[in-house]
Amino acid sequence: RPQTTLRRLAEMKAARDPIVMVTAYDYPTARIAERAEVDMVLVGDSGAQVVLGHDSTVSVTVDEMLVLAAAVRRGVRSAFVVCDVPFGSTEVSDEQAVATAVRFVKGAGADAVKLEGGGAQRLSRIRAIVAAGIPVVGHVGLTPQTAVALGGMRAQGRTTESADRFVREALAVQEAGASAIVIEAVPAEVVDVVLPQLHVPVIGIGAGPADGQVLVLHDLLGITEGKTAVFVKRFAAVGDAMLAGVTAYAAEVRSGAFPAAEHGYPASADAIAAAAA
Ligand code: KIV
Ligand code: NA
Repeated sequence: RPQTTLRRLAEMKAARDPIVMVTAYDYPTARIAERAEVDMVLVGDSGAQVVLGHDSTVSVTVDEMLVLAAAVRRGVRSAFVVCDVPFGSTEVSDEQAVATAVRFVKGAGADAVKLEGGGAQRLSRIRAIVAAGIPVVGHVGLTPQTAVALGGMRAQGRTTESADRFVREALAVQEAGASAIVIEAVPAEVVDVVLPQLHVPVIGIGAGPADGQVLVLHDLLGITEGKTAVFVKRFAAVGDAMLAGVTAYAAEVRSGAFPAAEHGYPASADAIAAAAA
């Protein structure tokens, strides 16, 4: 399978060939994504919640993200690997943002980094990272790292003011040099208005079909416990299968059914005699 490049993604957009993106946070999930032939893998800071158990994405550190990202990179051959830069790792200055982006490229083999938001400070960071030669994926609409400032984890672009801001930021992020843009939790009708003016691939999540889709792997596989966002569709019940498997293991250990003879090693008579001596 050929490598997914930025050129290939642009060709897919032009051909209206939907781009498939999914998150991964470790080697086995990266292998699943790769074997399923997805086009793009996102080492999302949603890993803060999904695999590290935090309440929000803001807690995860660059060092933690680098461990996840490097593991994902080792599992991926052909998909385009995008890494989220966590909250606090680009906010201070353009220099800090470039240094952080470089760590993801050098330390984890990221093909691109993803930055949330489209305000003036974010645009400056995008320009700086792009100028350093590192592709940037933008992320507008609902931006979880700054959800508190947005009034919570809620859809964007549903009021005049919010729709205005969304359109302005999407266009500005493109203008700043982003190679692709993720749009999260914006009504499809609002996205459709700006889509003709976006010439880079647009990946939706709760934002209509756009040029492709991204979902959190653990959400789509049904591993996530409890309620998920309205834009999540469960394509499997892997959490139930995992629970059933561990429950069965526990039951067999407790009943003595496991381990059986076949799960052990044969010994020679000499070794048994020596052990007894
Ligand atoms: O961290 C993440 O999983 C994301 C996607 C929801 C786009 O940013
Ligand atoms: Na994210």
